[in-house]
Amino acid sequence: MQKSFYINTYGCQMNVADTELVESILENEGYVKSDSLENTDLIFINTCSIREHAEEKVYSQLGRYEKLKRKNPKILIGVLGCMAQSLKHNLLISKSYVDVVLGPDSYRRLPELLKRSQNDNESLVDTTLSRYEVYSDLFPSRKEGINAWISIMRGCDKFCTFCIVPFTRGRERSRTKESIIFEAEQAVDKGFQEITLLGQNVNSYNSGNYKFHNLLEELSKIKGLKRIRYTSPHPMDITDNLLSIMAQHDNICNYIHLPLQSGSDQILSRMNRNYTKGHFLKLVEKIRKFLPNAGISTDIIVGFPGENESDFDDTVDVMNEVMFDSAYTFKYSMRRGTKAIEYDDQIDEVTKQDRLEKIILLQRRHTYQNNCKDIGSVQKVLVEKESKLSSKQWAGRTDSNKWVIFDKGKAKINDIIKLKVTDARGITLRGELVSFVEAA
Ligand code: 5AD
Ligand code: SF4
Repeated sequence: MQKSFYINTYGCQMNVADTELVESILENEGYVKSDSLENTDLIFINTCSIREHAEEKVYSQLGRYEKLKRKNPKILIGVLGCMAQSLKHNLLISKSYVDVVLGPDSYRRLPELLKRSQNDNESLVDTTLSRYEVYSDLFPSRKEGINAWISIMRGCDKFCTFCIVPFTRGRERSRTKESIIFEAEQAVDKGFQEITLLGQNVNSYNSGNYKFHNLLEELSKIKGLKRIRYTSPHPMDITDNLLSIMAQHDNICNYIHLPLQSGSDQILSRMNRNYTKGHFLKLVEKIRKFLPNAGISTDIIVGFPGENESDFDDTVDVMNEVMFDSAYTFKYSMRRGTKAIEYDDQIDEVTKQDRLEKIILLQRRHTYQNNCKDIGSVQKVLVEKESKLSSKQWAGRTDSNKWVIFDKGKAKINDIIKLKVTDARGITLRGELVSFVEAA
């Protein structure tokens, strides 16, 4: 009987891409993917440590797996990813039913570890971080779909004081352009219309002085590649070259995720973000000069240690000036090993919650106002999936990364169409088909 595996993935897109990599390693070992937790031989959980809440979700899942293991002690349970990296042996001490703990740079060792754990029944841990591992020669297991995630660099050297990523993912390193281009061509051959380049600091990509904008330019020339997206960039690494390449190539999406984190100079400096409110606003101005209709989204943290009312007002100020199209908003969460956990002016939970609610409401207003401005415009949309609202409608994304819902008509998934925006509701647009740009 063939052995099967089940992987549950938490956290960022990088984890989604890593899970595809692990799937491909397991499939090469003869395992088959199972869609359910029941009756599987191997249960892996790919974990995230970015905030306390992310870790809590993982712990509660692990509780479920413990029960399954009690019923069937032969099941092998593995913890992968950032929590594996940051908790290491502590995980085995507190969760004795866990068999394998593997950090993000150790997935190559899976086959060997699986064989060992079957033979001698002992728990195994490998959380060695590497300066070089980019899994260049390992290609993810991709079935079919619209978007292919392609990881182009790993790790982060920025050390923002709130962030655990430099500790769980290690130092920055980039994959060779040849291996990335090969993977992108393979994805296009398999029928993927879109690729999203991934990296903790995707635009710090640098392979032997071959930079991110060089890579984007070369990828944009791949025949049949309709859309290129990337995430997540660091504002300080957005160069004129990058913006100019984006402006020149139609298949590089007109969208930038630009994490602000805070609008206060005092807080930005304590966060080690290396820019000020003024820099950030100038950068947005520049982006809009190069890419007039670009969608811009952001990440914002409220309640960072020492954030007073006037610091918070600065964040609100930047939001009002930029009018982001969307924002991921977070309460600061203390992370072990980071510098910010040591600051002695932590903010109380009530204040954090109050500030979070304020910016959520503000962003909702901005998203709606921006979307209203799109009414009447014609947008290029890639048809991605059936709308959750009705089986008679499709959902797709504009070049600028906004969801639009529209009647199916003759359109099919994978088509690129022109849509006229007819309405803005909540955070999504409504539209009607005008013409086909490229039928799938
Ligand atoms: N607390 C809250 N939010 C955090 N982020 C990273 N670390 C923390 C933390 N300790 C947010 C940042 C980052 C996004 C991926 O997660 O906004 O851009
Ligand atoms: Fe974390 Fe800052 Fe690196 Fe982003 S740039 S992964 S927020 S340390």
